[in-house]
Amino acid sequence: MANGKVYLNGEFLDPERARISPMDRGFLFADGVYEVIPAFNGVLFRLDAHLQRLERSLAEVSIANPHDRAGWRRLCEEMVAANGGGNLSVYLQITRGVADKRDHAFPDPPVAPTVFLTSAPIPVPAADSLHQTRGAAAITLADTRWARCDIKSISLLPNILLRQQAVASGAVEAVLLREGLVTEGAASNVFTVHNGEVSTPPHSARILGGITRDLVVELCREHGIAVVEREIPEARLHDADEIWVSSSTKDVVPITRLNDRPVGDGRPGATWKTLSRHYIQFKRRLCGLD
Ligand code: PDD
Repeated sequence: MANGKVYLNGEFLDPERARISPMDRGFLFADGVYEVIPAFNGVLFRLDAHLQRLERSLAEVSIANPHDRAGWRRLCEEMVAANGGGNLSVYLQITRGVADKRDHAFPDPPVAPTVFLTSAPIPVPAADSLHQTRGAAAITLADTRWARCDIKSISLLPNILLRQQAVASGAVEAVLLREGLVTEGAASNVFTVHNGEVSTPPHSARILGGITRDLVVELCREHGIAVVEREIPEARLHDADEIWVSSSTKDVVPITRLNDRPVGDGRPGATWKTLSRHYIQFKRRLCGLD
C-alpha cells in the first residue's frame, strides 16, 4: 500500500524504511508464523479468535511470544489507525529472528523474534463482488502440503503452487484432496451442501482452523441451518448441490463450477444465500456498518 505504515520491531515506519536482515530465519527458512486479520469500518473482526490462533501457532513452533494478548490487541489497533481505518486486512508475521549463522537448529541462546505488520485495503465489500453474486470456479488438486496444516506457517510454497495452478486454469481456488478426502482450499476452508445440510471437515492437523469457518458453523447453528463437521469424501464433493469456500478477506464465496462442470444448477445456492445474509448482518452489527 503506497502511503501506508508498516510496523517492524517496535516502530511504525514507511515501508521503504523498514529493513530486515537476510540472516532473518523467516527469509532463510520461512521459519515463522502469521495471521491475516480483517478490519471493517476500522473495527478488527474476531480479533481475539485470530490472536488465540496466533498464540497457538507460536507455541506449536516454539517461538517465544513477544507480546501478551493486550499487547497484540493494542498493536493491531494502532496498525489500523496508522493506515486510516476503513476496510483493510492486517498482516502480522513473527519469525524466529536473526541468527549469526544459517543453522537448521534453533539459535542458542535464543534471539529476539522479528515482528512485522503490514496492511492492505479490502477493496470491494466482499458481498458485492462478482464472485459473490455469480459464484466462482475451482479445481480439485492433490494436497501436497505437510502434515501440520493447523499451524499458520509462513512456509507457503505448496499453497502458492496450488493456487497458481488454479489461477492458470481460470479458477479462483484449488480444493485440495488428501487420501480421497477434501481437506481445504489453498487459502480457504471448504463447505459442501447436500439437501440443505452443510458439511465441513472437522478440525485436525490436515486443515487450518479458519476463523471464518468457525463463524459460519456458529451462524448456521444459530439460524437453524443444518451443519455437520465431518469428512467429505471426493465423491460427495462432486455430487454436492453447493460448494463454498471461506476466508477472512473474501468471506464465504459460492463455488459454482468445479473442474469445468457446474455445481448444482451452476448458480449460488439457496443455502448459501441464507447463510450469506446472516453473515453480512453479523458483520454489520459487529463493525457498526450502516
Ligand atoms: N488464509 N486455510 C488456509 C490454508 C488459509 O490460508 C486460510 C486463510 C484459511 C481461512 O482462514 P481464515 O478464515 O481464518 O482467514 C484456511 C489467509 C487469508 C491468507 O493466507 O492470506
